[in-house]
Amino acid sequence: MKHLLKMLDLSTEEIIDILNLADQLKYELKHGIPHPHLKGKTLGMIFQKASTRTRVSFETGMYQLGGYPLFLSSNDLQIGRGEPVQDTARVLSRYLDGIMIRTFEQKEVEDLAEYGSIPIINGLTDFCHPCQVLADLMTIREFKGSFDGLKMCFIGDGNNMANSLIVGGLKVGMSVSIACPDDYQPPKEILDFAKEYGDKFQMTNVPAEAAKDADVLITDVWASMGQEGEAEKRKKAFAGYQINDDLMAVAHEDAMVLHCLPAHREEEITEKVFEGHANEIFEEAENRLHAQKAVMVKLMAD
Ligand code: CP
Ligand code: NVA
Repeated sequence: MKHLLKMLDLSTEEIIDILNLADQLKYELKHGIPHPHLKGKTLGMIFQKASTRTRVSFETGMYQLGGYPLFLSSNDLQIGRGEPVQDTARVLSRYLDGIMIRTFEQKEVEDLAEYGSIPIINGLTDFCHPCQVLADLMTIREFKGSFDGLKMCFIGDGNNMANSLIVGGLKVGMSVSIACPDDYQPPKEILDFAKEYGDKFQMTNVPAEAAKDADVLITDVWASMGQEGEAEKRKKAFAGYQINDDLMAVAHEDAMVLHCLPAHREEEITEKVFEGHANEIFEEAENRLHAQKAVMVKLMAD
């Protein structure tokens, strides 16, 4: 494993290895056991979109591993003024030991990996959010003990989160169902991947069908970063695609609820369900730190 660009690139074994290391690093942090695997290393963090969790968890995580994180806002970089990503990649490879990038196009992340010579970590693109989904898988395993026999259900937009959850969920052996409006389905590349899993993958436009007997219910905002101009249109399209008491009633009685955050209460999830599952949702947010530290160690340690 040289980079973390998308879940599609990871084998099941690589995912499980990351999750196992994440569990170990979480244990070490909680018990005050030092783990300076990246002593003397530097991570550049390029943000072309806003972030709370990704920024703070990568920065803190790098510090806890003994390394140094540099926050690089695209407003201040020449990349924001049009310097080609090919050149940025070759320059930054000479200063840094790794790059985390949050941007719009997946191609930009893939280009950084192609032209640079250091590990690249995708901190969210319009196509996928692998760091979040590794944390989600870690959280599911933590609460449920294993992935065996679990059904994971995503309700809402066929967006970056849905894409990575479908791939990650199927790769670790869960059944995956998704309910989304017909005009907001995941892209063909993801659906083609999912088709190979036969009846372990189900897609419908009826939320209650997807949520039936689910062990894990997940949703995300109706308008992602960059789609703010479509917010009103999307509110109409997604009406009914909400995790609420009625949907929870058809899921497994012990179903857990995850949300990558930020959440819009009374849109994709009700306040009541959100607060009823806050322990799972905020453990999920914490696990960003541990999962990403595991990714950085796998990619950047000597
Ligand atoms: N879930 C997530 O990636 O949060 P941020 O946008 O705050 O980084
Ligand atoms: N789908 C959301 C996820 C935010 C973490 C977005 O891209 O804005």
